[in-house]
Amino acid sequence: MSFVITTPLYYVNDKPHLGSIYTTLICDSIARYKRLSGEDVIFITGVDEHGLKIQRTASNKGMDPQSHCDKISNIFKQNWKDWDITYNKFVRTSSQKHESIVNEFYKRVKKSDDIYMGVQKGWYCVGCEEFKDNPDNSPTFKCPIHKKNLEWKNEENLFFRLSKYQSNIEDLINKPSFIQPKERRNEIINFVAKGLKDFSISRTNVSWGISVPDMKNHTFYVWFDALLGYVSAISLNMDEPSLEESIDNGWPADIHLIGKDILRFHAVYWPAMLLSAGMEVPKKIFGHGFLTREGQKMGKSLGNVLDPNLLLSKYGKEAVKWYLLKDISLGNDGDFQDKRFVDIINNDLANTIGNLLNRTSSMSRKWFENQVPNIEESNNDNILELYSKETVENFINHFNTYELDLAAKVLLNLAINTNLYLNEKQPWTLIKDKSNISLVSNIIYNVLESIRIIGLLLLPLLPDLSSKIDLQLGALYDKNKSWKNQLEWGILKSKSILPVPSPIIEKLEYE
Ligand code: MSP
Repeated sequence: MSFVITTPLYYVNDKPHLGSIYTTLICDSIARYKRLSGEDVIFITGVDEHGLKIQRTASNKGMDPQSHCDKISNIFKQNWKDWDITYNKFVRTSSQKHESIVNEFYKRVKKSDDIYMGVQKGWYCVGCEEFKDNPDNSPTFKCPIHKKNLEWKNEENLFFRLSKYQSNIEDLINKPSFIQPKERRNEIINFVAKGLKDFSISRTNVSWGISVPDMKNHTFYVWFDALLGYVSAISLNMDEPSLEESIDNGWPADIHLIGKDILRFHAVYWPAMLLSAGMEVPKKIFGHGFLTREGQKMGKSLGNVLDPNLLLSKYGKEAVKWYLLKDISLGNDGDFQDKRFVDIINNDLANTIGNLLNRTSSMSRKWFENQVPNIEESNNDNILELYSKETVENFINHFNTYELDLAAKVLLNLAINTNLYLNEKQPWTLIKDKSNISLVSNIIYNVLESIRIIGLLLLPLLPDLSSKIDLQLGALYDKNKSWKNQLEWGILKSKSILPVPSPIIEKLEYE
C-alpha cells in the first residue's frame, strides 16, 4: 500500500508563484516524513495545461498552446529541482497518456447514465475556469478572487449528473476526517445543503482541450480533465496507462493538499465523478489558507508579488521553508512580512539551534580532547532526556495530523529548553573546579544528544540543515536504518570525534 499525496496541478499561465511553492513545499515535507516513517510514497505534482485561460495566455504571447505549455511546464520542473522537491510523478494534462485515461473515465461515467446534453447559461470567470454566482446579473460584476469582469456564456454543453450524488456527498463530507480543517468542512456542508446542481463538463468554444469522443466541436471542461491528472499520474510511466493500472498501483489518494479556493472541486465534484466511474474517493482533502504580503493580497496590479526565485537566491530554500511551515498554521491564511521573516530565521535557526550547537561543540572539544564526553553513572534524572522523549512523541503526533507548524514549534521548544538547561547548569563555571568533571561531562553530553535529536527531527522539514547538524556531530545518522529508532535517546557515542564547528546557517540582514 502506497501513501499517495498530491499538490494541485498548477495552471501554466505563468511560472510558479509563492502560493504554488507553498503548497508544494508542504507536500514535500509530508512526503519526506512518510518516507522516513517507512511508508512507500507516491508524491504527485504536475501542471494543468488545457482550457480557455491557457489558450488565451498562449495566444496573447503569439505562441501555439503546446509550445507555451512545454515552456512553462519546464520552468515548473526546474523550479521543483531548485527547491529540492522530491516528487515521484509529474503529470502534464496535455500528454497523450493522460488523454487516454480521461477518455476511459468518460466512458465509465457515460455508462452510469450520468451524462446528458443541456444548455449552459451563466457568468464565467476565466481565471478560475468556473461559473460564478452573479446575484444581480450585472455585466460589471467582478470575480471575488480575480477582480475581473465575468463573461456571459450560453452554449450547448454536456452535463454531469452531480445532483444524483447528493446523499453520497452528504455522507462523505459528514465524516470528520474527509475535509480538514473543520472550518472549511462547514463551508462545504453549507454549500451542499443548498442542493447540488448538475454541472457542464464540455465546451464548444475552447479548442485547447481534449476532444470529447464522438462529439464534434466539444472539448472536455478543463476541471473534468485536470482532476483526472491525479489518477493518470499513477500509471504514467507504463506503456499503456489505464484506470485499472492506476487503481492497482495506488489509487485512491490519501490526501489532496490544495488551496481553499478550489475546495469545492475537490470535495464535491471530484468524489461524485469518481463514484460515477465506480472508483474510490480520496481519503482526505486539506484546504490550506492563502498567503498575503505585509497584510495585503498579492497581485500583479498591486505590484507586491513576491518572486519566489528572488527569495530563494537571496535567503536560500530552507530559510523560506522554515518561515512558511513554522509561522503559518496550515489551515489558516498566512502573511509574509520581511522583518518578521529575518527575525524568525535569525532567532530560531541561527541563534536558538545554530549557536547552541556551535558553542556546545566548542566547549566539548576544548575540555574533552575534541571528543564527545563520557556519560557518567550519575546521569540519571536527566531532564533533557525527558524533554526529548516528549518532543519526539508530540512531533510525530503533529505530523500525523498535518499540523506541521506545531511539529516545527515543539522541535524548536526542545532547542529553547536545551539552551535554558545549558545556561542554568553553567558548565563553564563548573569546569573551573576539576572535581566537577563528571558533572560537566554529563551536561555537555546531554546537550549534544539533545541537539542530535533536534537535527534528526529537522530532517523532513529542513533536510540540508539537518545534515549539517549531523555532520558537526560526527555524521551519526544512518539512512539505511529506521529514522524513528534513531530518535531514541543515547545514540551519540562518547569519545567520538567532534569536527571543528562552523556556523550551520548565516544570519540574515534586514534591508
Ligand atoms: N489548475 C487548478 C488546479 C487543478 S487541480 C486538479 C488551479 N491552479 S492554480 O495554479 O491556479 O492554483 C494552484 C494552487 O495555488 C491552488 O491550490 C490555489 O489555492 C493556490 N494559490 C494561489 N494563490 C495563492 C496564495 N496567494 N496563497 C496560497 N495559495 C494560493 O487552481
